[in-house]
Order: sequence, then structure tokens, then C-alpha cells
Amino acid sequence: MTIQTHDFLDIDLVEPQDIRNILALAHKLKKVPLAYRPMEGKTLALIFEKPSTRTRVSFEVGIRQLGGHVTTLTGAEIQLGRGETVSDTGKVLSRFVDIIMIRTFAAHKLHELADGASVPVINGLTDHSHPCQVLADIMTAEEKLGSLSGKKVVWIGDGDNNILISWMHAAAIFDFSLHICCPPEFVPPKDLLAALQKRGAKISVAANVDAVEGADIVLTDCWVSMHNSDASVREQLLTPYRVDATLMKRAAPHAIFMHCLPAHRGEEVTDEVIDGPQSVVWDEAENRLHAQKAIICWCMGVDPTKGEKA
Ligand code: CP
Ligand code: NVA
Repeated sequence: MTIQTHDFLDIDLVEPQDIRNILALAHKLKKVPLAYRPMEGKTLALIFEKPSTRTRVSFEVGIRQLGGHVTTLTGAEIQLGRGETVSDTGKVLSRFVDIIMIRTFAAHKLHELADGASVPVINGLTDHSHPCQVLADIMTAEEKLGSLSGKKVVWIGDGDNNILISWMHAAAIFDFSLHICCPPEFVPPKDLLAALQKRGAKISVAANVDAVEGADIVLTDCWVSMHNSDASVREQLLTPYRVDATLMKRAAPHAIFMHCLPAHRGEEVTDEVIDGPQSVVWDEAENRLHAQKAIICWCMGVDPTKGEKA
């Protein structure tokens, strides 16, 4: 039997039905014991060119729970940091390991790695997107609110942000409306917005935060991402977009607050909100583990909840 393997490079580069299947598997893996350990004898390589807590630990723990091994490489320690191309790195690692995850800067490096590698490649965050995070976010939102179809999701803050871009990709699949409240200086890429709207995604952008009225989900992220160098301009222009208790009161009473973490308390979100009853950020962090395992299984073409593969 030929096993179909896949790269997981972005939500919009995976068939919508496959995204739904990965999510369904993530929900199942959280509840159901494994029928077998599909990664036994297999190794995952993690490459980090930026810092990480959640992504690193959830992949390291997740692969072990699936029976596999992990080797974690940081950019500065390997020859990638001295100029070996990412494509050559992918070719070489494919001779040793069975699957690779990379966290890097420009998205083209992810794609070059995937082109060079002969094993599946996972996007563990680029300047452009963070699909693993947003799958865990959708999983968390579904746990709290049920289906996202028809729900009102409101993003407050940096409109030129990798988490937001993966949420925009998700809006084209999950039938929620995504209202982006951001300063005109930091808006989402116009081409992407137009392309997703053309595909039927309900996404709007405004400079004021009025869309928060009646929101089911209020989302934000840091104002200064790891690849941003314009910290002082961002802090100045994004200050009106802080999620505080007054803003949360305008959302629906059942609304949840989400943040991928790490949070910059007192900047994009106040302690009162992130530590308050509407915050689901710790479940969101935990769900990285379940989502990660489901992504690895999909990439490797296995389903450990369905009995041993042939
Ligand atoms: N949310 C997230 O990806 O966290 P880390 O940067 O800690 O991996
Ligand atoms: N937007 C943030 C996400 C961190 C998980 C960054 O890229 O730094």
C-alpha cells in the first residue's frame, strides 16, 4: 500500500477537506488513546531560526507521544547559520530524518526547504504565517463555541501579522466573518485580502474598533513580531488597539478572548483580560500539542486512532 505524505506549508495550500480532517483528528487525539504509535522508529527534525517555547515543546512532546524521536536544531548551531542553503539543508536532512519542521523568517525559505527536502515539511512560523497555531486556535474555538460557521471573529491590533494571515486563510474555509481592526499603517496584504474575498471569505478591515460589538471571538497578537524592526512606531500606532476590559464588554457576553502567546501584558492586552474568565489562552497553548500530533500524522499519511497501518 502506498502511503500518501504531504507538506503542511500553509492553510490555503492544503485542501479544505484535509484541514477539516486534521482538525477532527486533533479533537480525537485529545480524547482517545492511540491504537498504535505511528512514528515508532521515525525522527522529526525541528529547525528554529527564531525563538520558541510552545512550538518547540509541543512538537518535541508530540512526536515522542507518537512513538518517534526528535532532533532540535537552532539556526546558529547548524551550517544553515553559516550560509548553507536551506534547500541543501533539506536535501541532507531528508537522508537522516522522516519529517522536518522549520521556523524561519521570509516565507520563501520555507518553500525552498520543502523543494529541497524529499520528506514532509511543516511550517512552524514564518514572517508571513503560522498555520499550526491557527489550527490549534480553531480547535480551541470549536471546543468553546461549537462550529465557527456564522460566528463573528474580531482581530484587534497589528493588521500585518503572521497569525492574522493564517486566520484569514481559515476564514476562506470555516465560514466565519473576520473583522480586522487595525491602523491604516499596518493593514493585511491587499492582494491576499482581495484573493480571499474573491474565494468567498467574509473579511473586512477598518481603522476603528467598532466591529467588536457582539463579537463571538476577540483575537489579538503582539504589536512587535520577531521579524519587526520598527518597534517604537508600532507601539505608538497600536496603543489605541489594546484589548482591555472596556473593549471586551462590547463583545457578546459569551465571547472568548484568544492570543497565540507570548503576550506582552499591558501592551496588546491587559492582565484583567488575559487572566479573566473569557480568556482561553491556556487551552489554546495546550491544543498546540494535539494539533501538532494531528498535523504530523496527516503529513505522514497515518491515523493512529484507526488501528495499525497495513
Ligand atoms: N505561539 C507560539 O508559536 O509560541 P512560541 O513562539 O513560544 O512557539
Ligand atoms: N506574531 C508573533 C507570533 C509569535 C508566536 C511573531 O511572529 O513574533
